[in-house]
Amino acid sequence: MTEKFYITTPIYYVNGAPHIGHAYTSIAADVMARFKRLDGYDVFFLTGTDEHGQKVEQAAAAAGVDPQTFTDGISADFRAMSDAMGVSYDDWMRTTQERHKMSCAELWKRIEANGDIYLGHYEGWYAVRDEAFYDEGELTVRPDGSRVAPSGAPVEWVKEPSYFFKLSAWQDRLLAFYQENPDFIAPSSRRNEVTSFVKGGLLDLSISRTTFNWGIPVPGAPGHVMYVWLDALNNYVTACGFPDEAAPRWGFWPADVHFVGKDIIRFHAVYWPAFLMAAGLPVPKRVTSNGWWLMDGEKMSKSLGNVVEPRKLAEIFGLDQIRYFLLREKPFGADGSLSHQAIISRINVDLANDLGNLAQRTLSLVARNCGGVLPARGAVTADDTTLQVAADGLLALVRGHVDRQTFHDGLEEIWKVIRAANGYIDRQAPWALNKTDKVRMGSVLRVLVDTIRVVATLLQPVMPDSMARMLDQLGVPADGRGFAELGVPLVDGQALPPPQGVFPRYVEPAA
Ligand code: MSP
Repeated sequence: MTEKFYITTPIYYVNGAPHIGHAYTSIAADVMARFKRLDGYDVFFLTGTDEHGQKVEQAAAAAGVDPQTFTDGISADFRAMSDAMGVSYDDWMRTTQERHKMSCAELWKRIEANGDIYLGHYEGWYAVRDEAFYDEGELTVRPDGSRVAPSGAPVEWVKEPSYFFKLSAWQDRLLAFYQENPDFIAPSSRRNEVTSFVKGGLLDLSISRTTFNWGIPVPGAPGHVMYVWLDALNNYVTACGFPDEAAPRWGFWPADVHFVGKDIIRFHAVYWPAFLMAAGLPVPKRVTSNGWWLMDGEKMSKSLGNVVEPRKLAEIFGLDQIRYFLLREKPFGADGSLSHQAIISRINVDLANDLGNLAQRTLSLVARNCGGVLPARGAVTADDTTLQVAADGLLALVRGHVDRQTFHDGLEEIWKVIRAANGYIDRQAPWALNKTDKVRMGSVLRVLVDTIRVVATLLQPVMPDSMARMLDQLGVPADGRGFAELGVPLVDGQALPPPQGVFPRYVEPAA
């Protein structure tokens, strides 16, 4: 039976339009989902929108629309953005769907039946922007006396009856769990951060609100709606059919990887496993967190007017070019700066010069000097073998990087082979062999075609459309592009379509 693999993105708040930060987490998760599919897994890839809570309720009120109509519109826009960015999700979760309300009510009941929920009174700080509670000690007092959360979000004093989750009781079990599962939180800097947060002691968590009503009702407690993070996190099991364990997708739980931003690691690595353990459900295998994209070195914000619209970037530079840039430019877990200059340089150097030229030079020589048919290999030289060995070893290397979400290192491994192939073509000079040794020329071109095929096959998850075109030109059958088929040789003598450049240089339009 095919092994199941479940990947999720965060579900996005529908309080405003999607931006490049949202697209980034989704594209990274998409790359892993596509990679796993090509590697033979039965993948379930989930994304969607987080539609309840005070922040969304306030945004709807500011827009003068009822919350459901408001969320319908923004959720549809997030979905259109995900489609436009090539995010190949299998299900689009919306937390206002009936299936989710039912699932949350059941989760609540199970935690309650376990004795982990009690009624109390919450009095403390709350940041609507983060939808998070903060202790006094975490806040910064501004000169005007106002307080802000570590994220910079303003906080307000909240005083209301509330149900609590006995998070404090889970401290030791969480620490034991992190210790037994060293790969649960990535990167390791985040694991250390989470571990020391939990070691510092956990307070019980307020999990219901009474001062507004845009949320999922607490079962049997009129006036209480669930804390939006309990509702939101639970989307990951709703999508598997919870509480119906006979549902077709139940077999995907527990998730293999939750992709999240570094801002929401605590919710996923502390609260979520505690809720699940309390409900008697298996916990996810890994939570991997991405760093932030800064715009020309500055944090993106509506007030600075530097928020980047992902669809606009794809329109200007090309979708695959942007997907490649986002994965290649910075380590996944680290912060990085987005600038037009950096994008242009990746397009013109990595894509146009290194990869595009390699394919174009090779394929135009095949078209011109081999009658447009795939040449066969002749006697093997040491130079051929070196390149061949590097190409053969690539899948295992890249797979390791995708499994660890070190995407930029995986791409660097692929580019090492591309650069080696460029060195090989220069040394072997097949254009010169055309006059002296046609058999050797054919052999050199075939080594190159086989190498480019490996590269293009492994790059499909990052640049699906461009690599489909490149594989077409290499004569790789459409149903033979999975990783297992890399072992099936291309047919000698098959006719190849006329070559066409896949990566044009980006030339700045005249101002
Ligand atoms: N709704 C919650 C998540 C609930 S998951 C059960 C939420 N939504 S969000 O819309 O505010 O942000 C979601 C994610 O978008 C962040 O965690 C992060 O992954 C991504 N990003 C938002 N801005 C970003 C950048 N500037 N750069 C990189 N990623 C960022 O939090």
